[in-house]
Amino acid sequence: MADKTHHSDVLILGGGSGGYACAFRASQLGLSVTLIEADKVGGTCLHRGCIPTKALLHSAEVADSARTSADFGVSVTLEGIDIARVHEYKDGTVSRLYRGLQGLIAQHRITVVTGHGTFVGDKTVQVDDVRYTADNVVLASGSYPRTIPGIELGDRILTSDQALELARVPASAIVLGGGVIGVEFASVWRSFGADVTIVEALPRLVAAEDPWCSKQLERAYRKRGIISRLNSKVKSATETEAGVDVVLDDGSTLTAEILLVAVGRGPRTADCGYAEHGIHLDRGFVVTDERLRTALPGVYAVGDIVPGLQLAHRGFQQGIFVAEEIACLDPIPIAGHLIPRVTYSHPEVASVGLDEESARARHGDVSTVVYDLGGNGKSQILQTSGGIKVIRSGQTGPIVGVHLVGDRVGELVGEAQLAVSWEALPTEIGHFIHAHPTQNEALGEALLALAGTPLHAHR
Ligand code: NAI
Repeated sequence: MADKTHHSDVLILGGGSGGYACAFRASQLGLSVTLIEADKVGGTCLHRGCIPTKALLHSAEVADSARTSADFGVSVTLEGIDIARVHEYKDGTVSRLYRGLQGLIAQHRITVVTGHGTFVGDKTVQVDDVRYTADNVVLASGSYPRTIPGIELGDRILTSDQALELARVPASAIVLGGGVIGVEFASVWRSFGADVTIVEALPRLVAAEDPWCSKQLERAYRKRGIISRLNSKVKSATETEAGVDVVLDDGSTLTAEILLVAVGRGPRTADCGYAEHGIHLDRGFVVTDERLRTALPGVYAVGDIVPGLQLAHRGFQQGIFVAEEIACLDPIPIAGHLIPRVTYSHPEVASVGLDEESARARHGDVSTVVYDLGGNGKSQILQTSGGIKVIRSGQTGPIVGVHLVGDRVGELVGEAQLAVSWEALPTEIGHFIHAHPTQNEALGEALLALAGTPLHAHR
């Protein structure tokens, strides 16, 4: 018999985006919820990921505005980066959101247990010597920054966890990995004045995006003076008195003050008792069906431990989905390609739906339109370049992918995801009115062009 004092309807292991969203929704649906968290609720996103990195990126944007202020007729001199104040601003932002989250947890009457939970089978999680049981268990233990065997972390060889706390602005940095984390930190440090080199094994930056986006970003980074060493792997990295020596597979050596290792995030599943108690893992990730059920009845998994995009908003949605599934509301499974993606570099890269290659594979014939931000008034006012690529299926089918590059385009992905998720035809939504002058208009123009009635497109 389970100990009734520690029994709940839903027991969640991990209080990050996936776990706490599940807790909130389950509680709204009248279920009793226990949430086990070893560190702070809010997880990677709030404490070591999305929020603090975007705060750094905002400081970087302010630095760029100061640096280019004369172009806009404003006389400002960038005297430097007060890194202590940058951290104060970043940490203050995190703290305010953390307090808000704690308030919401209390409001939802969620029982939070602080400690490392281990799944011990039979819908039970143990924390120290106390066992918590439930009708349903949700595994949401998140992810950690991967490193490369042979590369030892230290004072100068960092993952994003340490990079976020770096108490100085590096004069130079090598970024290992040209994925999302790599290009975002490269952006911050370049804006703060560092010499930055990105080393990427694949032939392009942000390789998960449409190649058109990679090209745009690579061009913009070249202009910013960020060096990209593509098709390159690191053979060794050694800390020295003054910095780090990095040897590449072609034999060349790069030297910088610090090295950031940003080669992906691994699922945190090794020390949680999963494999030992019947949870099926594949390369460390928890295997689920599309309803996020593990191999064990009544045990679900959400967030970064489930194969797919490791994004906070995917975790949120999966958490909500599982709570509704437990409450027998028959929610609609989440379609991976409809999850919007934003990389907050300068310029930003955002997308939703299929890239051109996947669209061709799925739909056969596709048509595409690229609208250059050079024709968009607001983008010209902001002096950002980039563009919007829209993909429709066939010559007359719905919009299946939208890809955006340019400063602030992350905010446009909302409209893009409505179009793609609703399988809208360009002719159905092309005539919707976009406020002038906004960057939204660029998306409207691309849709008009696809509908065959371009207005401001240059031929
Ligand atoms: P990632 O998977 O996006 O990129 C890692 C890159 O490192 C890949 O391009 C890979 O080819 C490269 N790489 C791997 N081994 C290498 C080697 N030995 N030498 C050279 N290059 C190598 O992973 P990242 O950037 O670490 O991000 C982790 C996760 O966090 C991602 O899933 C990402 O979606 C998420 N994230 C999302 C953000 C956002 O949505 N804005 C921001 C930051 C992270």
